[in-house]
Amino acid sequence: MYTSAFTLLALLATPFVAASPVTPRVPASSISYTNCGNANDVLQIQSLTFNPTNPTAGQNLTVNFSGTLGSTIDTGSSGNVTVSFSSIQVVNQAFDLCNELKSDASAPQCPLQQGSRNFSQTVALPANIPAADYKIGVTANTQTGSPLLCVNIDLNLSS
Ligand SMILES: *[C@@H]1O[C@H](CO)[C@@H](O)[C@H](O)[C@H]1NC(C)=O
Ligand SMILES: *[C@@H]1O[C@H](CO)[C@@H](O)[C@H](O)[C@H]1NC(C)=O
Ligand SMILES: *[C@@H]1O[C@H](CO)[C@@H](O)[C@H](O)[C@H]1NC(C)=O
Ligand SMILES: *[C@@H]1O[C@H](CO)[C@@H](O)[C@H](O)[C@H]1NC(C)=O
Repeated sequence: MYTSAFTLLALLATPFVAASPVTPRVPASSISYTNCGNANDVLQIQSLTFNPTNPTAGQNLTVNFSGTLGSTIDTGSSGNVTVSFSSIQVVNQAFDLCNELKSDASAPQCPLQQGSRNFSQTVALPANIPAADYKIGVTANTQTGSPLLCVNIDLNLSS
């Protein structure tokens, strides 16, 4: 029986082919954001960075924010947060910005002074949240009703 060198190589290579990136596998989790605000927003967002970039249920997710506040933010600033889960909206909630910050000792507190701001926030992702595509939208206005910010976050959690 005759085995060509090509056939032999192909057979030897089989385990490597099976392990190659071409093999279909579960896509990694991901997180990204888009700034849905405009050039006149009081908060000009420079960047939001996420660590890790492939968030996992039951693990911490750290968000670093960098931006510039065009005016001081104080009591009365409010907004809305929406969360949709595989295209179904599950949360649509108004929030009072200063009260929200007050409930988190590690967050910056009102009044938030005008100027360049950096802060880092760590969120513990619950261990039991289902793998799904989450879309989180946050909009807020200043205490005088001017647009403050608009951010959409896309969190794709794989199992
Ligand atoms: C998440 O962070 C907190 C404090 O920052 C830490 O105590 C905890 O162990 C971390 N959890 C995981 C799963 O790394
Ligand atoms: C804020 O973060 C940005 C981006 O990471 C960086 O360029 C800048 O130097 C930081 N500013 C301060 C005051 O830490
Ligand atoms: C995020 O912010 C923390 C605290 O300010 C800093 O130690 C860390 O280096 C920052 N990470 C990134 C990726 O910018
Ligand atoms: C939040 O929602 C309320 C009710 O729908 C709306 O009146 C308000 O303008 C919204 N605020 C922002 C900042 O989008």
